[in-house]
Formats: sequence, structure tokens, C-alpha cells
Amino acid sequence: MANFDVSKRDSFGSKIGVIAATAGSAIGLGNIWRFPYVVGENGGGAFLFVYLAFILAIGIPVMLSEFVIGRSAQLSPYGAFKKLAPGRPWFLIGIMGVGAAFMILAFYAAVAGWTLEYIFQSVKNGFTGKSPDELSTMFDEFRQDSLRPVIWFLLFMGLTAWIVISGVRKGIEKYTKILMPILLVILVVLCIRAVTLPGAGAGLTFLFKPDFSKINAETILKALGQAFFSLSIGMGTLITYGSYIKKNDNLATTAVSVSFADTLIAILAGIAIFPAVFAFGINPGAEEGLVFITLPTIFQQMPGGYYFSLLFFMLLAVAALTSTISVLEVVVAYFVEELKMTRKKATIFATLSISVLGIVAAGSWGWFENLTLFGLNIFGLLNFTSANILLPLGGFFIVAFIGWYFGKEETRKEAGNEGALKARYLPVYMFIVKFIAPIAIALVFLNGLGIVKF
Ligand code: TRP
Repeated sequence: MANFDVSKRDSFGSKIGVIAATAGSAIGLGNIWRFPYVVGENGGGAFLFVYLAFILAIGIPVMLSEFVIGRSAQLSPYGAFKKLAPGRPWFLIGIMGVGAAFMILAFYAAVAGWTLEYIFQSVKNGFTGKSPDELSTMFDEFRQDSLRPVIWFLLFMGLTAWIVISGVRKGIEKYTKILMPILLVILVVLCIRAVTLPGAGAGLTFLFKPDFSKINAETILKALGQAFFSLSIGMGTLITYGSYIKKNDNLATTAVSVSFADTLIAILAGIAIFPAVFAFGINPGAEEGLVFITLPTIFQQMPGGYYFSLLFFMLLAVAALTSTISVLEVVVAYFVEELKMTRKKATIFATLSISVLGIVAAGSWGWFENLTLFGLNIFGLLNFTSANILLPLGGFFIVAFIGWYFGKEETRKEAGNEGALKARYLPVYMFIVKFIAPIAIALVFLNGLGIVKF
């Protein structure tokens, strides 16, 4: 398994190890919390269609590009670009990635904190007998309570830091291989319960029947942002992970399997949520609260709901944890490699500074509710900017780097394991990273932000 001590650069021990750790990074709150509410806000089926197209045409190529860069340089993002393109400004991508990691961790760990509150509520049977409206009020009241969300957030940051400092990460990843399949099983059970609810059909129609009149420049940008966010691409997380992949592993099949698993979990989350949303008359545009209102409603309609609820929120917290460690890793690796800090010092320094921002994010409905910019609170601002701006920008430069600087021959060597693999997809992939992906990202980006109108 991975040993993330950069001084003894180790590699993932087995193929399943790479996939488990990378999937652990990709699968998390992005799939189960963010995906359903973003789909709900942006009109359902048509959004899903655009999202899937972006995963295939842009997401997988960007992921492969990050692996190629990381494994070829054997360094984390900033150092990798300095090594592969000495004296060139490409290293700025690495710095932007550190910035994005900062912002993502601040609000992501806040949501991870909400899952801890929901474990706590599951234990004390806090959902039983509550109507969807009451569950919605419960969620709002919790978020508006200034202290509780902040305390859970700090606890989660502490947990993440502890895992990054101590070697237990290996252990965590060993357990992820068992725990994530259990999460998958629970999700499937939830899907079955949801689709057999009376009135479930409307939810499935909403999720799968595209109504393209609901799509506009902004929703397309949000689909791209969600694809990047969910796959953990665009900020170098997977450059770092790529640097730990063994030289004889197949980078392309790893990228495809991880993307497939990630997309499967997101769609299952959608199938669990939307039928219930329609069956119980919950507002599909319930924003960040959607999952936290809908799932407790479903649990109450199931035999053994108490245990399912408890187990589900515990596994969701674990899924979030395998993602937060991958985000913190980017910042820590930068501090270790560039500021020559010890790993422990770097982790503490990174955690404390991210926590300052995170306290504001977690308190965005409480202490800091009046702190808004462009109509968004700090949480919303971090969420929007990181996913829809920084990650696509990072992705743009990552594919451009492979397509226009690193070049076909170097890429063939790395992705083709020095000739051991045929890598027949290479011409198509090079065409995508040179033209299709950068042009598509640029158009979606400029149009979505209203900088250029088509
Ligand atoms: N992909 C993770 C999720 O869906 C979140 C995440 C982890 C992430 N590492 C990242 C997002 C890097 C963007 C970039 O929950």
C-alpha cells in the first residue's frame, strides 16, 4: 500500500491498492452529497447527460494526464512541473492546486462535520417520527447553530491531520477496500427502497429523462465543475497519487476503472434520492440540505432503518475521510518539498491555516451569516469558486501541458510503460488533450461565467 512519506518514496503495493486509494480520493461527499443537489438544482436528466459526456470526453483524459505527469516526475504537482519543465511557468499550476486544495478542504471538511452530527443524531434516534419538513428545519437549525458545525468541522480536520501524520493511513486504506463495497451495498438497498416508494416514478423521470430546455451556459459550467470535483481532478491530487503508482501498472485502465466506479456511486446516490424526493414532496432544489433531509426520511420507511442510518452516515464519514486526506496531502507535500518542513510540522501548519478558513465556512449559516459576496456566503463562495473555476482552469493547463509541452513521445513512454503496453488509444488521447479538451473547457468556462456569449 501507499506510503506517503516523501522521504522514502514508496509505491502502491498492488494494483488494487492504487485503485483503492485513488477511488478513495474520488468517491466521497462529491458523489453522495454534492452530485444529487447539483443535479436537483440544475434540472435533472439533461444535466446528467452533459455531466456524463464531460466525464468521458474530458474527465478521464485529465485523470490520465495527471497520472502521466506524476508517475513520470515522481514528485507532487509543484515539484513535478519544475522538474518536467525547468525554467518554465508551468509550476504555477502546482501553486494554483495548493490554493484550490486549501479552499476545497475548508468547506468539504465542514460538510464532513455535518456527517458526524448525523451519526450522532442516528445514535440518539433523532430522526424518528419527523416529517420531511421537520427534518428540513432540523438541518437548518443545526447549520445556524454557530458552535456545533464548527466543533464537528474541527474534529474532522483533526482526524484528517492525525491520519496524514501517523502511518495509520495504510490501515485506513486497507479498510477502505472493505468499507466502500459495504457503502455500495447500502446504497443499492436504499435505491431499492426508494424506487419502490409510491410515486417514485416521477423521480426517475426527473433524473433520467433529459429536458434540454433546462440547460444553459451556467448549468453546463456546473456540470463540468461537478465532473472535475467528483473525479478529484484539476488540482494535482492525482499527480501526487500518480507519483506513487508502480512503473508497470496500466495508467489508462486505472483512470477508466476509477472514473467508472466514481460515476456509478454518483448515479446510485441519484437513484436513491430523487424517487424519495418526489414521493415525499421534498424540494429538489433544497441545496446543500437535500441529502440530509431525504435520506433520514427514507430510513424511517425501512425495517432496520435505525441501523441503516447509523451505518450509512458512518460509512459516508469514512468516504469523506479518504477524500480529505488526499486533499490535505497536496498542501503537505508542497510544504515538505518546497519549504523543507518536516512532515509533521507541515501537516500541523497546513491544518491550522486551513482551519481558519474552514471555521468561517462551517459557520456560514451561523456566526458568519452576514459575510457574503456576489450573493453567496463564504461556504458557497469556496464551493463555487473551487469546483467551477479553479479545477477547470487547472484541468485546462494540465491537458495543455501534456498536449503541447510534454508531447506525444514522452507520453507514449510513460503511459505505455516504456513499450510494454501498446497504448493504442494514444492518438485519440493526444488529439483530445491537444484540441478537444482545452477548447471545450475554455468555451464552457468563458460562456458559463458570461465572459463570452455564444
Ligand atoms: N472527489 C472527492 C469527492 O467527490 C473530493 C476530492 C478529493 C477532490 N480530492 C479532490 C475534489 C481533489 C477536487 C480535487 O468527494
